[in-house]
Amino acid sequence: MVDFTLTDEQKDLRELAHNFAEKEIRPVAWEYDRDGTWPQEIIEKAWEVGLMNIHVPEEYGGPGLDFVSGALIEEEFGWGCSGIGTSLAANGLAMTPVLLGGSHEIKKKYLGMLTEEPKLASFCLTEPDAGSDVSGMKTTAKKVGDKYVINGSKCFITNGSYADWYTVYAKTDPDAGHRGISAFVVPRDDTITIDKKEDKMGQRASNTATVTFNETEVPADHLLGEENKGFKLAMMTLDRTRPGVAAMAVGIGRAAMEFAAEYSKERVQFGVPIAMHQAVSFMIADMATKVEAARLLTWKAARLLDQGVRNTLACSHAKRFAADSAMEITVDAVQVFGGYGFIKEYPVEKLMRDAKIMQLYEGTSQIQRLVIAKEVLMGRNVDEPLPESAARQNEAAAKESETASASV
Ligand code: CAA
Repeated sequence: MVDFTLTDEQKDLRELAHNFAEKEIRPVAWEYDRDGTWPQEIIEKAWEVGLMNIHVPEEYGGPGLDFVSGALIEEEFGWGCSGIGTSLAANGLAMTPVLLGGSHEIKKKYLGMLTEEPKLASFCLTEPDAGSDVSGMKTTAKKVGDKYVINGSKCFITNGSYADWYTVYAKTDPDAGHRGISAFVVPRDDTITIDKKEDKMGQRASNTATVTFNETEVPADHLLGEENKGFKLAMMTLDRTRPGVAAMAVGIGRAAMEFAAEYSKERVQFGVPIAMHQAVSFMIADMATKVEAARLLTWKAARLLDQGVRNTLACSHAKRFAADSAMEITVDAVQVFGGYGFIKEYPVEKLMRDAKIMQLYEGTSQIQRLVIAKEVLMGRNVDEPLPESAARQNEAAAKESETASASV
């Protein structure tokens, strides 16, 4: 059965997220973008109303919500301001390896930290010479007695300056390529230095830093999953978070479309509102189709996770299409505004700058195409069940969503 109906709980959650975006995010979004303001107060409010850490299971203090709900929230964040939205959503990326590979004690401690107070965590994968090519990383983790000692620098780390703990990927067997990477949960301490806050083109209210580990020690039980299995953990994590990024891109595209549609009804040229000119109305129509199609791909990628089905192909389709669509829609929105679109006083140039990162972070559009091409050419069974450990993580969500009818 194909049914796009949301449950009452999902509708309520979407309304909550939309109202939050409208009342708390939108009024300050353009000012925070201009000044690169860190949205601390908004983070505290979002945490308070339950819009953060939504996938943390109840036993660790969270609501244990499903992935479709996550996509609904992230679309609204993207509609409000994707820079602030990224700050609000980044805990999800950091916590997923913990959910997938952490022991009960580790989950209790580190997920508990996020649910007891509005604290932040960061996902440390990328390095200056290892972006798309994850296995090229140089950070090392050496086992010394009952500890690991971590050395190396991670760049482009969302919320890096403000995080209380990090999930860190490091080489435990430097000669083994992707099969020599392990993942760790690392509490912030004095050996960790924050070297740089990036001055970005877009999403300027989000914090992006370089985080360096200098002889940083963690107990051996802070290893997530098995030693040398960190690459797979990273890929499985991205399968779970890319639908959220896609949803955020849908939100940016939707916001740009709404601004462009509104403006096209007000702006008069050649004696009529420009919406009456087919050249403009067709651009709006194309924007609407892209928003709709991107959302459907996003919901499918999220829904498969809720069903405990592998979503690698679906989430690359969703992330690639939603990100590229957000870019196209925002460029066209600037075009609809004409010369005014190029002026900061008008809302759409910010959206165009923000949209660009959607094609870059959590896997570029080219990496998504690489994944799609591999999946298609290898003819992999796209309905393959998730690996057992991951399936267990999704069990609760899958059970909860048995009654839900948001399937696609
Ligand atoms: N789930 C589970 N296992 C997977 C997997 C998946 N989705 N994808 C690959 N694997 C496994 C493969 O089965 C294979 O396993 P074996 O070792 O048993 O053979 C192994 O991983 C290697 O797979 P590939 O040969 O496909 O790996 P590759 O190196 O050719 O390609 C890649 C991998 C797709 C290019 C990958 O490196 C990738 O996604 N790169 C992009 C990285 C990325 O998204 N970075 C973003 C950082 S986070 C961020 O941006 C957030 C922020 O804070 C700003």
